[in-house]
Amino acid sequence: MGASGLSMSALNGKHILLGVTGGIAAYKAAELTRQLKSRGAEMRVVMTEAAQAFVAPLTFQALSGNPVATHLLDPVEESAMGHIALARWAELVLIAPATADFIARLRAGLAGDLLSALCLASEAPLILAPAMNRAMWANPATQDNVRVLRERGIRLLGPEEGEQACGETGPGRMLEPVELCEALEGSFGDGSLAGLSVLITAGPTREPLDAVRYLSNRSSGKMGYALARAAADAGARVTLISGPVALMPPPGVEFVAVETAAEMHVAVLSRVHESDIYIGAAAVADYRPAEVAQAKIKKTAASLNLELTRTEDILAAVAGLSPRPFTVGFAAETDRLEDYARGKLAAKNLDMIAANWVGRPQGGFDRDENSLHVFWPDGERELPLADKSRIAIQLIELIAERFHAQDTTENPR
Ligand code: PMT
Repeated sequence: MGASGLSMSALNGKHILLGVTGGIAAYKAAELTRQLKSRGAEMRVVMTEAAQAFVAPLTFQALSGNPVATHLLDPVEESAMGHIALARWAELVLIAPATADFIARLRAGLAGDLLSALCLASEAPLILAPAMNRAMWANPATQDNVRVLRERGIRLLGPEEGEQACGETGPGRMLEPVELCEALEGSFGDGSLAGLSVLITAGPTREPLDAVRYLSNRSSGKMGYALARAAADAGARVTLISGPVALMPPPGVEFVAVETAAEMHVAVLSRVHESDIYIGAAAVADYRPAEVAQAKIKKTAASLNLELTRTEDILAAVAGLSPRPFTVGFAAETDRLEDYARGKLAAKNLDMIAANWVGRPQGGFDRDENSLHVFWPDGERELPLADKSRIAIQLIELIAERFHAQDTTENPR
């Protein structure tokens, strides 16, 4: 969990070099500088020429308390704190916003400007917070660059979906400064889930009724996809198994598309033995039609009775394995949230359960926001209403905390 007090923050005293490249989100980097500074980080800011067209270096100088570096071969800057000295000084390099152009430069290993040269010269962990138009982000060239950078161990935080400065809507927005601060706090250094494998389910399932109809629910996949992204940002190798939704899988995440509960069951059980952590965020159908008509059912009868049979309980199957991953379930409830969630935690022998209200105006199915009440055998925590990407970062940090706590107490999982 991100600590907000200066003395509590994991960023206190850390040397963070913020690289600002030329996109409209550069204005958010000013607020990011302020927030990182207020968490006790020592800040140095480097700006590309294009970034200076959006925000003046003086803004960052005032907020960081240090001169801003802008030129590679400037005799004054090089004599004060040259690019090699800056590269050595940094304990972490964060590029926010990271434009498509800068991402391409990084992939190519160019060093013709101060920030690129510095990234090449620094041995500190490098984190990118991309920001660009959604089509630029989706372009295969950018996606290929991102894939290669991830393979080199460079981490990405975001981008998130939403309204863009260009008037379009989609993935490409830079994460909010508070989200970046929390992700940095939670994963400073190696990342709270570094080296771990996380399997996540998301979205609804569709249970066919006849050739054209199915039973399903209102899950949009937003919660599960946000968790996949947050787990990847925390350093995990993530596999996302998803029912049909209208979202793009987060970059760097292995993706498996399924339709029915039975397909999700097979997909999970064939991969779960490689996983350290399982998170069941999918809204899996509890029942499927007992028979599937091959043709479209005709409306000849005045009424129609459907016989339903139970689907496989994927979460219970995972929790029943031996050995098994750290198993986290969700509970979607319309009443008696705490009773039912605690009941599922115990009955399915889970390590943790994240309970959310559904069927209410705020949070739950198909909303951008959610709130969770999280239970584990000897504790609980409430995560108040916030954007699902923020809730996901908090839940992932909590899972990491509990996973590592169990790991050190010889739990017989
Ligand atoms: O997708 P969004 O629109 O963002 O909405 C998010 C969400 C509300 C779907 C999500 O936060 C959530 O609550 N997911 C679980 C929904 C659900 O099916 O809850 P449940 O209480 O019916 O099931 C309990 C647990 O058992 C869940 O972890 C579920 O994945 C799992 N389960 C259920 C049935 C089944 N056959 N197999 C399962 O594994």
